[in-house]
Amino acid sequence: MSGRDLGRVSGYESWDAERAAGIIAGHAHREGATLPILHALQETFGYVDTAAVPLIAEALNLSRAEVHGCLTFYHDFRKEPAGRHTVKLCRAEACQAVGADALHEDVLRRYDVAWHGTTRDGQVTVEPVFCLGLCACGPAALVDGEPVGRLDLDTLADALTERAA
Ligand code: FES
Repeated sequence: MSGRDLGRVSGYESWDAERAAGIIAGHAHREGATLPILHALQETFGYVDTAAVPLIAEALNLSRAEVHGCLTFYHDFRKEPAGRHTVKLCRAEACQAVGADALHEDVLRRYDVAWHGTTRDGQVTVEPVFCLGLCACGPAALVDGEPVGRLDLDTLADALTERAA
């Protein structure tokens, strides 16, 4: 599945330079416009295409390196389309105390993916988060925005199957 198709199934618009330029122009007047622009691009396309870097640099009169530095500094920004499903795994203390670290290693191994990465079939993106407010029922996760408590490999697989149905 190409990045373009992934963009479509996940409800985001496909990357479009003209649309991106419009978004950039809409925020360029703001103080410290780089971050709002990056957020707006990610909200629209689901990620920030690296082709946006020169567009932003030109609009804000910054160097490409400055914009690229900002894009890579914040882990919230994706540099490529996310998978069809997003799994956010809580790495904060209460979840750690009930074995989240070991579980996360198992999850990454089972899905053959790294943090912030997407499975090869384009189905699942795995991201770390820090406390979802579900500390009493850790290890906790969000699967496509839905909270899942007492996570293990089976409940995660079930949640993904449910979301795919
Ligand atoms: S520590 Fe994981 S939900 Fe709070």
